[in-house]
Amino acid sequence: MSAILIDGKKIAEDIRSELAEKVASLRGKGVRPGLAVILVGDNPASVSYVTGKEKACAEIGIQSFETRFPEDVAEASLLEKIAECNRDPFVHGILVQLPLPRHIDERRVISAIDPTKDIDGFTPINLGRMLLEEPCYIPCTPRGIIELLKRSAVPTDGAHAVVVGRSNIVGKPLANLLIRKSVNATVTICHTGTESLAAHVRAADIVIACAGKPGLVSVDMIKSGACVIDVGVNRVPDPTKKKGYRLCGDVDFEGASKIAGWITPVPGGVGPMTIAMLLSNTVDAASRISGVQL
Ligand code: GUN
Repeated sequence: MSAILIDGKKIAEDIRSELAEKVASLRGKGVRPGLAVILVGDNPASVSYVTGKEKACAEIGIQSFETRFPEDVAEASLLEKIAECNRDPFVHGILVQLPLPRHIDERRVISAIDPTKDIDGFTPINLGRMLLEEPCYIPCTPRGIIELLKRSAVPTDGAHAVVVGRSNIVGKPLANLLIRKSVNATVTICHTGTESLAAHVRAADIVIACAGKPGLVSVDMIKSGACVIDVGVNRVPDPTKKKGYRLCGDVDFEGASKIAGWITPVPGGVGPMTIAMLLSNTVDAASRISGVQL
């Protein structure tokens, strides 16, 4: 291993302790940040993410209000719940865990969230504001990745960043953040329609793998000294593990860590940063909505 290991768990802990002080200050002024968490169905990965988010909230003094719906919930019930959260003065942030079941129109559900409570930054209003660099909530995983690069002092000014993945949650917003003048990278976005992925990735100073395919980025694609950020959280069957699976990213970590300059592990890289940014956005929402400055 020659790469510097980017310890997302440690960086996220630092951020969480900074946030705990902000929550204490808000609570001292009578404001308790509140996050509504809406989960549909019992997808094990979603249940695990939601549990992790709620635990992280509790640790720094954010109140979370969980509502679980069965897999076959009617869309109207979900919309009614969101309307209730929009009105609730104790709720400052609303999180609808994705993906939703196929019979639900995800776009309609997300658009129903009050943009001032959209701490995931998924509504068209917040994504539009992000594009225009107006005050907004920035999606947690892309924001966490930018924060990781900054706090790890990875040079981004003039760097060539290759984003592998074009989801609304990660790839698209991330590519947009990377071209902000404050980051100043030149960006290539690769996706399932890209011909010769390897050639693009080989040119990258920064590779961000967010396609959700284990082993997609192999060692032969990595330029020596490049920064490799692995967003993939894939469950790979492994009978030697108690749970019957292990987590792995989209990158061949073993190989890539020998030639990269920096690399994030899975787990313990991007994942904890996503949670830290969710907490940060929720604290900001509580401050903005209550009018109590931080
Ligand atoms: N599913 C995967 N990532 C996320 C996220 O950051 N927020 C929500 N709400 N759902 C997700």
